[in-house]
Amino acid sequence: MASTGRIEIDGKTHDFAVTEGTEGERAIHIEDLRAQTQCITLDPGYKNTGSCESAITFIDGEKGILHHRGYSIEDLASNSSFLEVAYLLIHGELPTQSEYEMFRSGVTIHTMLHEDLKDFFSAFPKDAHPMAVCSAVVAALSTFYPEDLDPNDSEQVMNSAERLIAKFPTIAAYAHKHSIGHPCLYPDNSLSYVENFLTMMFGTPCDEYEVDPVVARAIEMLLILHADHEQNCSTSTVRLVGSSHANLFASISAGINALWGPRHGGANQQVVEMLESIAEEGLTARQFVDRAKDRDDTSRLMGFGHRVYRNYDPRARVIKSSADDVLAKLGVDDKLLEIAIDLERIALEEDYFAERRLYPNVDFYSGVIFKALGIPVQSFTVLFAMGRLPGWIAQWMELHEQEQAIGRPRQIYTGPTSRKYTPIETR
Ligand code: SDX
Repeated sequence: MASTGRIEIDGKTHDFAVTEGTEGERAIHIEDLRAQTQCITLDPGYKNTGSCESAITFIDGEKGILHHRGYSIEDLASNSSFLEVAYLLIHGELPTQSEYEMFRSGVTIHTMLHEDLKDFFSAFPKDAHPMAVCSAVVAALSTFYPEDLDPNDSEQVMNSAERLIAKFPTIAAYAHKHSIGHPCLYPDNSLSYVENFLTMMFGTPCDEYEVDPVVARAIEMLLILHADHEQNCSTSTVRLVGSSHANLFASISAGINALWGPRHGGANQQVVEMLESIAEEGLTARQFVDRAKDRDDTSRLMGFGHRVYRNYDPRARVIKSSADDVLAKLGVDDKLLEIAIDLERIALEEDYFAERRLYPNVDFYSGVIFKALGIPVQSFTVLFAMGRLPGWIAQWMELHEQEQAIGRPRQIYTGPTSRKYTPIETR
């Protein structure tokens, strides 16, 4: 039987339909609330607001569960490839062999950048943050492919989606190469997605670059772990921009900017910088945790806490358990990993973190691995963006399939009431 939610305002009751998702989550439909009651809901930070129904990703934050299209993140991280997960997110099902080959070749033919687009990189200062460069270059893609910008044409959208997934590793590598003054290498389409990225990132025209399979597999796993996370800040941004019918490149560029913030994807860079400063200052983990708890101190335990997870982030668990293995295989003895493990142990014993249910999130251990794999610290969040691309694209496409109205929250106005303009001389 369909459920109803009842709201009473000023003694009058109003009924609203209750919707239930396939995993039992429930929501009250309040689309008519204002029409019926002249009230809106007020929920700054959207802590309790569902912006859409979605069939892509399921999170149970209490239990620490993450599924994409029904498959657990642990299963995908150990058994799948990044492009296969991208296909799954975008198309809803795992591909058959021939579907996979078609998708892979559709992506692979687009790896090169237009020669004129390459000139963009030299216009940026050498110390430009690569997230700013990536966002600008992704926005600029819309100037090179004006024939594929119609959000209501599925063929054009798929062309843009394949271009984005194909070109992002090239853009990410060129942003890094420009920052160190090295020439940019062309993509090599005989290599896999990740091998190609690593070669463009670390190869030079002078020497042959051999991809370490341990590094390639670790990056593949990290990309899978970042692939989607339902309505997080950057995905909501991509959807909101998309809801104005802005093109896919413009929407994704906005998502990259949202991801850059230190409260979101930018936390992976912040975590490693935090670990490095703890090591440099000779602090104990206990001293730093005390700082993070102190309201008068601006320090926060970066990589801890999450809006949805009130339990261990399952992605952090996968990364932590592979960190030892990857570091051992690479022969890296990483002091930062030791500090991170120490911080986690001490924080989880503290009432402050237990009461607020703050646990390590995806960013807590990812930076340590990225660093051990040789990724420059400034590019950590770029790797997050590369992984998140298929999720952003799938969510943007779903928004258009659902023909959702333009995203446009309301507000409660708290400024001055109506008053008359006075000329400047009389003020
Ligand atoms: C990502 O949403 C997603 O799905 C995001 C993501 C994805 O895949 O897309 O999972 C990726 O963004 C991970 C989060 C990365 N950010 C960080 O690691 C930065 C540190 N953490 C936070 O700033 C914070 O926990 C957030 C932003 C992640 C969540 O913020 P909320 O849900 O708004 O919670 P809050 O800031 O209101 O905190 C609640 C309480 C506060 O204390 P009180 O005011 O109640 O006393 O917990 C405290 C906060 O001060 N708190 C922390 C803390 N995080 C929260 N205290 C110390 N250290 C921390 N890290």
